[in-house]
Amino acid sequence: MPPKAVKSIRQNMKFYRYFLIGIISLNIINTRASNVPIAHRFAVGKRIVEFVPSGFDRTKTPSLILKAEPASVGKVPSGWSLVPEFTLTGKKASASLKITGEVSLYGGGEVTGPLLRNGQSIKLWNTDTGAYSVEGGKRLYQSHPWVLGVRKDGSAFGILFDTSWKSELTTASNKITLRTEGALFRIFIIDRTSPQEVLKGLAELIGTIKMPPRWALGYHQCRFSYATDKRVREIADTFRIKKIPCDVIWMDIDYMEGFRIFTFNKKNFSDPLKLNTYLHKKGFHDVYMIDPGVKVDKDYNVYQSGTSQNVWVKKANGEEYHGKVWPGDCAFPDFTSPTTRQWWAGLYKDFMAKGVDGVWNDMNEPAINDSELPEAERTGTMPYNNRHKGGGGLPAGPHLLYHNAFGRLMVEASQAGIMEANPDKRPFLLTRANLLGGQRYAATWTGDNEASWKHLKLSIPMSITLGLSGQPFNGPDIGGFLGNTDGDLWANWLGFGIFFPFTRGHACAGTNNKEPWAYGPAIEKSSRIAIERRYRLLPYIYTLFREASLSGLPVMRPVFFADPQDLSLRQEEEAFMLGKDILVIPAFAEHPSLPSGIWETFSLVDGDKTDKYQATLKIRGGSIVPLGKIVQNTNDNSFYPLSLIVCLDKDGKAIGNLYMDAGDGWSFQKGDYSLLTFEAERKGQMVRLELTGKEGQRIVDKDIKKINVTLLLNGKAYTASGTLGRNIDINL
Ligand code: GLC
Repeated sequence: MPPKAVKSIRQNMKFYRYFLIGIISLNIINTRASNVPIAHRFAVGKRIVEFVPSGFDRTKTPSLILKAEPASVGKVPSGWSLVPEFTLTGKKASASLKITGEVSLYGGGEVTGPLLRNGQSIKLWNTDTGAYSVEGGKRLYQSHPWVLGVRKDGSAFGILFDTSWKSELTTASNKITLRTEGALFRIFIIDRTSPQEVLKGLAELIGTIKMPPRWALGYHQCRFSYATDKRVREIADTFRIKKIPCDVIWMDIDYMEGFRIFTFNKKNFSDPLKLNTYLHKKGFHDVYMIDPGVKVDKDYNVYQSGTSQNVWVKKANGEEYHGKVWPGDCAFPDFTSPTTRQWWAGLYKDFMAKGVDGVWNDMNEPAINDSELPEAERTGTMPYNNRHKGGGGLPAGPHLLYHNAFGRLMVEASQAGIMEANPDKRPFLLTRANLLGGQRYAATWTGDNEASWKHLKLSIPMSITLGLSGQPFNGPDIGGFLGNTDGDLWANWLGFGIFFPFTRGHACAGTNNKEPWAYGPAIEKSSRIAIERRYRLLPYIYTLFREASLSGLPVMRPVFFADPQDLSLRQEEEAFMLGKDILVIPAFAEHPSLPSGIWETFSLVDGDKTDKYQATLKIRGGSIVPLGKIVQNTNDNSFYPLSLIVCLDKDGKAIGNLYMDAGDGWSFQKGDYSLLTFEAERKGQMVRLELTGKEGQRIVDKDIKKINVTLLLNGKAYTASGTLGRNIDINL
């Protein structure tokens, strides 16, 4: 090599060295976290404080979580101790809240692992994670940047990180941290006297569920897929012949023509209106799946109209992005744009006109099959630098910003479409992906679980945690989706799963039949008992949903809600509460930690106390729980007779509510409802039950012609009957 060349290589190397040193030091500066001062802090509600970091720019981190922009209501309350710290590492924002003293942490939305979240970490990046491991840490389908803390004295606080950027939420015992890959964001902290009050505060920020139609609270039967209309009829008929109550039959992807959304398979679902009318006549409602991916097919009307309205998500270079899902190459609606959402909503009208009652939005993380890419490049979703155009207050931004909100924006559009199509009905929508606050638009289930004991047990803390994170209307695939289910697993799961807010049996393609009768006569009998128990409890469950829709309190609750000061209850995740008055203890639970005080075991259906699969149910001293009669579906009047279970507190008193309305539609918003309050009091050897309150204008006497009262006292049952409005005396 000539000396000149050697010299030039040396010089180049020197330059290269300096260049490297430069890069490394720049990186050090970039990876060093710098503190960001708080620019504003003010109260936005009763003991709710908003913290805004200096440099916060809402065009970089729009709020997709809050129901509305909260208005300042004054200064931070005096003595306020919970103040977050904001940091920037390069352009990536993080925030943390130091915790002092012993605090039990909960929340974080859809998570695996234990109910008690101290020492956990989860990635917030909505991901299609079938057969998820039951240990913590795995990213799942939804993101809930929210943590609830409960102090030793039972007082509680909550922290809401108002961002949808890709992030990681760590709940160490002394610090709650959210590290994001995006710009600065705001934080809302609620500090109140109890966890229940904190959850009400959360609902003030993120809203609540809409009151669901009554039929959506019945039992749902699903499978991937009931592949022909004939099979759907067979399933429906079998429920009625076998007298197993059921309200809803679900249509998974195979009802479509080549997996094209908003179409029906010409051969197997040739007359959907006829099928749905058949189901309706038998007292069923139907739910159909709609995924976000639209098959790229120039002859397909949905692809054509989407293309002509320029609705698709774009690649970084501006070309239309295509990714593979069930139908092959798909284009994806850019739900950040109001025009796209309007277009999407408009697709539901003709579809719902075929007698469709409810909709199931799936694969909306969005999940994309990228298995043809080298393993290192696979993300299971679209490229992070894909472009979303925003609009209507949302900035244009990369997929990294909007990924966690894709499902949430999709269900906002779907709900609008369903309501435009059927303005006189309450919408029912189920979604797999969502973001904190997305309960305003859709109910949810916990995705592709497994037919295993581990998943059976996990389903309890998972569902409770969703409820503690603003989403009361949720439940797992009962029986387990992936893998074969045996009768023992099914009946054990159903025995307590029937008390989850959303109760649906579902099964993956290629697995065994998983209907209640699929495991032989003994399990069929146990399944019937379990499902009948739910139907008897529907008046109480419906009343709880009404409460959830108003206050945000969850339907399914952790046992420690019964006594937030009892530290022995903080980790209990086998038993759970249904509302505040019923304790559910699954058959498998060996040594659950239960609240002290008066709790009486009660029966709902003949044989439920001796059937080994049924959960034990206990009623709280001081409460009155309304029950209906066993019906095959919610179209039937379950209130004749109405039953009331009464359990007195130590002072010999009890109180309870029953909410009734038309079961669907919006007339309840104009006063067409009835909220009855019953009270009972012991007077010597007699307990008197009175109707002490009636709110709303609905006349319910014609529905409730008779009331049967069962008083439970020291393990004994005393009964009496009467009519509404007349005192009922129970002799002891
Ligand atoms: C996804 C859903 C599952 C559904 C299947 C087919 O795996 O999570 O519930 O059955 O897709 O649509």
